[in-house]
Amino acid sequence: MIAIRAIMKIKVRTVAALFSLVLLIAAEPALLRSSACGAEPTAAPATAEPFFFIQMSDPQLGLTANPLFFSRFEITWIDDFTAETATFEKAIEAANRMRPAFIVMTGDLVNDANHDGQLAEFERIRAKLSPDIPLYLLPGNHDVGNHPTRKSLEQYRSRFGNDWYSFQHGNVYGIVINSEIVNDPKKVADEAAEQLAWFEAELQKAQREDVAHILVFQHRPLFIESPDELGWYFNISMRHRGAYLKLLRKYGVDGVFSGHLHRNIYRECGDIELVTTGAIGMPMGDDPSGFRVVEVFEDRIAHRYLSLDEALELGDDDASVPLAAQPR
Ligand SMILES: [Fe+2]
Repeated sequence: MIAIRAIMKIKVRTVAALFSLVLLIAAEPALLRSSACGAEPTAAPATAEPFFFIQMSDPQLGLTANPLFFSRFEITWIDDFTAETATFEKAIEAANRMRPAFIVMTGDLVNDANHDGQLAEFERIRAKLSPDIPLYLLPGNHDVGNHPTRKSLEQYRSRFGNDWYSFQHGNVYGIVINSEIVNDPKKVADEAAEQLAWFEAELQKAQREDVAHILVFQHRPLFIESPDELGWYFNISMRHRGAYLKLLRKYGVDGVFSGHLHRNIYRECGDIELVTTGAIGMPMGDDPSGFRVVEVFEDRIAHRYLSLDEALELGDDDASVPLAAQPR
């Protein structure tokens, strides 16, 4: 149930490292893979103190009790989100005890972006997070729609702020993208093009900053099984996936953290680790409601999915945090 994953990589960050890369490729032609996930060898120094952050996904208040209830005499819309209230509150309580450097919440904050009750409940619980723990939000398909429009984007931004942005914490450069306009840019083509150009500029900036790790956060996974699979509800459309995969490889991104599936999956694309994390809210697989703890070392990151009960237990024992998640 608990997944333990790690990345150990060498990264291209300096001219010297680029020189090493030339030598490496000359020595090992097999590195010149031509697939969508071709490897990009890299190198990094080792100095900074380890720290950990938390990735939470899909609190999605309102999902569990969403279905219509049909009885012999009436049809009732069950408008109740007590199940998600309980799990979201547990997640925030655990985070307050564990004291991560920051939290990234990868979308589907509520089930219905037009439901005032769900939005108010999200804000009420979010406000319980210790103010000294930064919380980075991004939109899921339930927040801006499966076919985002200018209106749905404006609505999200007015409530939650930017939907694509970057941040830096120590040796990590985090890039947050709106995967929903990547997946379906039809109604907001200018925004999608702008985000893609911005994404490459951010990757270049991250390289100039000479950070140890570039991590990308988004709602929808790029792919589920293979980079050339057909697009459908659970991944990013094939037509628009390639441009992002190409940039991830070109700039030596370490990992992409997503949600959307409400279950954990772990994939690789060359040297890039693609991690999809289960939901704080309603699970849709074997993994219980929970979140992911990510430990950052100078030369690797290690991560582990915790059920909410496990997280609360760990949070009770200061000596066990951070988790020293083990390399694969
Ligand atoms: Fe979701």
